[in-house]
Amino acid sequence: MNQLFPYLAIIFLFVAAWFAWRYYDLKRRVDEYARLVRIAPETLPTDIKQIENLSNAIASLKTTFDLQLSTLDSDNARLSTVLEQLTDGVIIVDANGFIQFANPAAQKLFEISDAPGHSVTEVVRNHQLVDAWRRCQQTNEMQSESVELPSRHQFLQLIAIPDTHASGSLILVQDLTRVRRLETVRRDFISNISHELRTPLASLKALTETLQSGALADPDAGPRFLGRINAEVDALTQMAQELLDLSRIESGQVELILAPLAPKSLVTSAADRMRMQAERAGLKLSIKCEDGLQNIRADRSRLEQVLVNIIHNAVKFTKPGGEIVLEAGSASGGVRFAVRDSGIGIPAESLSRIFERFYRVDKSRTGSGTGLGLSISKHIIEAHGGKIWAESDEGRGSIFYFVIPILTN
Ligand SMILES: Nc1ncnc2c1ncn2[C@@H]1O[C@H](COP(=O)(O)OP(=O)(O)O)[C@@H](O)[C@H]1O
Ligand SMILES: [Mg+2]
Repeated sequence: MNQLFPYLAIIFLFVAAWFAWRYYDLKRRVDEYARLVRIAPETLPTDIKQIENLSNAIASLKTTFDLQLSTLDSDNARLSTVLEQLTDGVIIVDANGFIQFANPAAQKLFEISDAPGHSVTEVVRNHQLVDAWRRCQQTNEMQSESVELPSRHQFLQLIAIPDTHASGSLILVQDLTRVRRLETVRRDFISNISHELRTPLASLKALTETLQSGALADPDAGPRFLGRINAEVDALTQMAQELLDLSRIESGQVELILAPLAPKSLVTSAADRMRMQAERAGLKLSIKCEDGLQNIRADRSRLEQVLVNIIHNAVKFTKPGGEIVLEAGSASGGVRFAVRDSGIGIPAESLSRIFERFYRVDKSRTGSGTGLGLSISKHIIEAHGGKIWAESDEGRGSIFYFVIPILTN
C-alpha cells in the first residue's frame, strides 16, 4: 500500500490539475462570453460546448427582451402620435412643479415652444389656472378651472390630475373658445330673431287695432293702413325666407351645383333683373366687364342671388340721381366682381360687421331689411372657395367685392 502511495499521489495531482485547467478554461470562456454580451450581443457564440446551456438561456432571454422592446417601441410611437395629434393640451409636471413633457397642442395654447424644463407658473401665466394646479398638488385630488383670457381672445379649461406614482401631476388643457363663441352666437341669434319679429308684429297689431276702431270705413286711411299691413307681411315673409336660406346654407343642406360659368353672362343677367328696380329709384345701372375673362366654376343661381342682394342694397342706400356700376375683372387665381354705388356709404367701424347676421348700420335709416342678405351672400361666396369684402367712403359710396376661383382642370 505504501509503495502505491506515490503513484496515487501523482494520479491525484494529475486529476486535480485537469480539473483546475477545466475550471480555468470555463471561467475564461464565461468571461469572454460576458464581454461579448456587453459589447456585441449580436455575435454571441452559441456552439461552445461547455456554455451551451447558458448561451441558449441567454439567447432566448435576449429574443424575449428584443420582442418586448419592439412592442414597447411601437406602443411609444403610437402614444406620441396620439399626443401630437391631440387638439387638447397635455402637460406632465414633476413634484417640483417643472414641466417634463408638453404636447404640441399645449405649447400652442400657451404660446411657448420649449415648455419642458420651465415651471408651470412660467408657462401657464394665469394665476387662476396655476392655483388649480397648486390645489391639485396640495390635496392630491383632481381640480378643474375655466378662464377667459381676454388678451388672447381665448377661453381655456384646465384639468389637473394628481400623479400618485411620481407625486407630480398631469395637466389637460382644452380650448373652449369655439364652443363658447357658438353658444354666444346662438343666444344672440335667438334674441335677435325675437327682436326682429317684435317690431313688425307690434305695428301689425297697431294697424289692425286702428282699422278695427273705425279706420276701416275711412276711404282714405283704410286702404293706406291695409297697404302698410301688406308691406309688413311682405317683410315678415322675406325674413322667414332669408332665415330658412341661412339655416339651410349654414347646416350644409344647400348643395352647390357647380358648372363652368362665363362672368359676363352672370353680371348681365343680374343687371337685367335689377335694372327696373334701379330705374324706378332714379338710379343709373351700368356694366363694365373686362374682355377675355376665363370661366369660373360656380352655381349660377346662387351667385346671381349674391349679386342681386348687393345691387338691391346699392339701390336701397343710394339717393335718386346716383349710379351703380357692376364690374368683372381678373384677379389672382380668380375673377373679381365688384358693385360700386354712389350712395350714403358705410362707416369704417361697421365695414367688418355688415356681413354678420342681423347687422344693420343704422336701423332707423335702412327701412325694410333684416340684415341677413350679406351674411347669406358671404356663406355662398365662401362655399365657392371665394372671398367677399367691402370698401366705403362714407357719404360718397361703397364698393362690394367678391372673388371666385377660375375653372381649372
Ligand atoms: N351699398 C350699401 N351702402 C350703404 N350701406 C350698406 C350697403 N350695403 C349694405 N349696407 C349696410 O349693411 C347692412 C347689412 O346689409 P344686409 O345684410 O343686406 O341687410 P339688409 O339689406 O337687410 O339691411 C345694411 O343694413 C346697411 O346698413
Ligand atoms: Mg340687403
